[in-house]
Amino acid sequence: MRTETLEFQAEARQLLRLMVHSIYSNKDVFLRELISNASDALDKLRLASLVDKDLQVDTSDLHIAIEVDKAARTLTVRDNGIGMSRDEVVQVIGTIAKSGTAELLRTLRESTDAAASQELIGQFGVGFYAAFMVADRVELVTRRAGETGGTRWESTGEGTYTIAPVADAPQGTAVTLHLKPADADDNLHDYTAEWTIRQIVKRYSDFIAHPIRMEVERPGAEGGEPSTEVQTLNSMKALWARSRDEVEPAEYHEFYKHVSHDWADPLEIVHMRGEGTFEYEALLFLPSHAPLDLFSPQGRRGVQLYVKRVFIMDDCEALMPAYLRFVKGVVDAHDLSLNISREILQQDRQIQVVRRRLVKKVLATVKDLKANQPEKYRTFWAEFGAAVKEGLIDDTENRDALLEILSVASTHDAAEPTDLAGYVSRMKDGQTDIYYATGENRATIENSPHMEAFRAKGYEVLLLTDAVDEVWVERVGEYDGKTLRSIAKGQVDLDTEEERKAAEAERERQRTEYADLLAWMGGALADQVKEIRLSSRLTTSPACVVGDAHDLTPTLEKMYRAMGHEVPQVKRILELNPSHPLVSGLRKAREQGGTEESLTETAELLYGMALLAEGGELADPSRFTRVLAERLARTL
Ligand SMILES: Nc1ncnc2c1ncn2[C@@H]1O[C@H](COP(=O)(O)OP(=O)(O)OP(=O)(O)O)[C@@H](O)[C@H]1O
Ligand SMILES: [Mg+2]
Repeated sequence: MRTETLEFQAEARQLLRLMVHSIYSNKDVFLRELISNASDALDKLRLASLVDKDLQVDTSDLHIAIEVDKAARTLTVRDNGIGMSRDEVVQVIGTIAKSGTAELLRTLRESTDAAASQELIGQFGVGFYAAFMVADRVELVTRRAGETGGTRWESTGEGTYTIAPVADAPQGTAVTLHLKPADADDNLHDYTAEWTIRQIVKRYSDFIAHPIRMEVERPGAEGGEPSTEVQTLNSMKALWARSRDEVEPAEYHEFYKHVSHDWADPLEIVHMRGEGTFEYEALLFLPSHAPLDLFSPQGRRGVQLYVKRVFIMDDCEALMPAYLRFVKGVVDAHDLSLNISREILQQDRQIQVVRRRLVKKVLATVKDLKANQPEKYRTFWAEFGAAVKEGLIDDTENRDALLEILSVASTHDAAEPTDLAGYVSRMKDGQTDIYYATGENRATIENSPHMEAFRAKGYEVLLLTDAVDEVWVERVGEYDGKTLRSIAKGQVDLDTEEERKAAEAERERQRTEYADLLAWMGGALADQVKEIRLSSRLTTSPACVVGDAHDLTPTLEKMYRAMGHEVPQVKRILELNPSHPLVSGLRKAREQGGTEESLTETAELLYGMALLAEGGELADPSRFTRVLAERLARTL
């Protein structure tokens, strides 16, 4: 028999090193991970046998067996599930495909705080590798359903593993741990002890839908010989089918960890039941933190579909819209066929009804958190708000509910975000619009020239910094009858009627005074901007760039290009502050016959500064700096 020695992928190696040196203090969870994998494998086998009629497998006694050898100090977790081919073993055990691994490892390396590291590992979940917290050698023997030969895999977790074919492996997978010595100080229990195993299974895996069996010793009656019997350690009760007051919070939490592959407790539990023509039970969870792949295109949805207690599929997109992809849990629908396909599900009317109810219930739960448990709501929004906002783009049916649970940063408070209702309640007399600004981050927006007049006049502005914000504000358009208005678009007029009258004469004078400069600059910068005008939004900056009400913003323009759309170059409007010495100086220089070249350079500098001030990018940064440096040199 050929035995090959192979290397773990670099990231797998690093993660394993963490496991071998055990940064995670709750070592008991290794068993939960192995049982969870075995349970997944049993589900997969049952499903494969339904889908593939040619697959000859026995699914009449799907189970998990725990076997202990006290003398050899080994613990084996065996299942008769789907098993793995040799290539699958190399692929899924030798590498980590999870997105975010590299980032996780980088953060772990940088973190010197042990508790923070634990937390991180907990968020990531390490699955099979958890075995190396308690074992110094792990063996895995597996045979894929439908294949004749099996595979033996073995490793000490230190960089390499061996792999060899085996002729006589039973179908399914057996993982054998060669246990480290028990060490109470290190939370390393004696995992050959029946009582310990029982407790761990009860605590973490009671709801697993397949029997977890173990041979246990029974003392003989009245001097008789002790005997052994096989017992099922778990109750196999489907939590979602029980009523809420029968389920302990801890049971919910462990179930959540099983379905979500999260190591942390959930933030909130949503347990519901639908009766009538289409019966279903749903047990959903809002996690307490966002997964690393929340915004990755391969990110999956978290709801599993069961039909009458039988697992049908993971990642059921028909049951949850993309913007709620972080919601985890189980939906058990009673009246579906066991071999329903994803395509059919998408179109199933009843599934659509269930989905609508689930979405409404999830949003109602968040609304309830917002009203009654602000701490939890805050966590929820900080973790998932950016995803939830995607719903404002196309879920018009729930738009009002979404607008109610929304919170955004605002100039009203430096730390606390506000909701839209709060903004409206603080609107000034006569204010008809809700003002917002978009940008990279709070500081850039607050320092951008667009803010000046709003700050000077004391208008509150919402500060939107997520990529999705520009899209939803455009799409939603208004709230409570008030238009959502970008401070960087269109003309602004924050003056009262009286102020306007008082300033009218001055404005008229400026308009005539600057008419010639504006016309000339319009020509000089024709390639870059579509219009030049005097601004009523600037107090201290010389200039800013703004868009027309329906123009694409630079961020959106970039986003569409990145997505491969053809977008025509959008020209914007340059607004000048007539009270700024640079602007009035340029006018005077022109009147006094400055050279065309030097005037044009000043105009370009003004435009460049306006772009930089809003956090934008220059088309030709090197030219800008060169001209600026020459100008500065002349002033020395
Ligand atoms: N008992 C088993 N039978 C069949 N395949 C298994 C078994 N145990 C592990 N695997 C395979 O190994 C993969 C890796 O397992 P691992 O527990 O590390 O990750 P996971 O279960 O996919 O996710 P998680 O990190 O949430 O546990 C599984 O996805 C599965 O394909
Ligand atoms: Mg796993």
